[in-house]
Amino acid sequence: MSSDRTVHLYSSLKVAFEDRVAIVTLNRPKALNAINATMIQELAEVLDEVAQRDALAVILTGAGPKAFAAGADIAEMRRMTPQEATLFAEKGQRVFSRIESYHRPVIAAVNGYALGGGCELAMSCDIILASKSAVFGQPEVKLGVIPGFGGSQRMTRLVGRQRAREICFTGRSVRAEEAARIGLAARMVESDVVTEAKQLAMQIANNGPRAVSLCKRAINTGADLDMGTALAHEAQLFGLCFASGDQKEGMSAFLDKRPPNFSGR
Ligand code: CAA
Repeated sequence: MSSDRTVHLYSSLKVAFEDRVAIVTLNRPKALNAINATMIQELAEVLDEVAQRDALAVILTGAGPKAFAAGADIAEMRRMTPQEATLFAEKGQRVFSRIESYHRPVIAAVNGYALGGGCELAMSCDIILASKSAVFGQPEVKLGVIPGFGGSQRMTRLVGRQRAREICFTGRSVRAEEAARIGLAARMVESDVVTEAKQLAMQIANNGPRAVSLCKRAINTGADLDMGTALAHEAQLFGLCFASGDQKEGMSAFLDKRPPNFSGR
């Protein structure tokens, strides 16, 4: 990373830009970065800022040594009416779905508790890196509620129905090693998880940006389609790559035996 670093503080988040990677930190460490309505709103705003600056990858992490995010804010939810709770869930789901479909890769660097809404936020990212101390889980049933920010659906798609039921019905903790084994996390990292995430982001950012975006679209859209439709969609996106300068540059660079210089167009 170069020293080209700018930081923007929101009330519950901060975002730093290092080269062309955005590092978004959930920043309510005293409440273990619990996700309240303000944070949800600011996550939407930060995505706009990241898009405006055209960062090539985004890292999401939590402030402090203990948590990525210990869930939706229980103090804020306690007195919600059923209608308010539905709206709160829908608002969170909308922003998390925006993260999922954001055109650049989003990496969750999970550095401690990722429970309830925190686990749901991590699961809306493309790749989860788990520190050795990471603890995942959907403990909502212990509070008399169910996951509301997509956990019942994304957990099921990631680890399968059997495991999702067991995790969501018990509300038990899933430690980093198990998370990596069952596909809830991409891998567990021994060293600093944000440093690892930056290395991963740079590795991705060195590739053709348009190809990475289209690959994300192929994987995410295809996951909810039947195989035939998904393959047809992949073929269309493959064709679209050939309308880009990056395809010409990438293939020419290979044949010229030199590193590519991608423009992202
Ligand atoms: N909401 C609000 N505040 C929270 C919070 C949450 N989800 N999680 C932790 N905090 C607060 C605590 O109230 C405490 O505040 P005070 O210092 O003012 O008392 C502070 O963060 C530190 O927490 P603890 O003292 O509890 O820390 P600990 O190390 O003893 O325990 C923990 C850590 C096991 C993560 C525990 O805090 C915990 O169980 N948190 C709640 C986890 C949870 O149930 N998450 C699901 C929320 S529901 C949800 O997310 C719904 C949805 O899907 C939309």
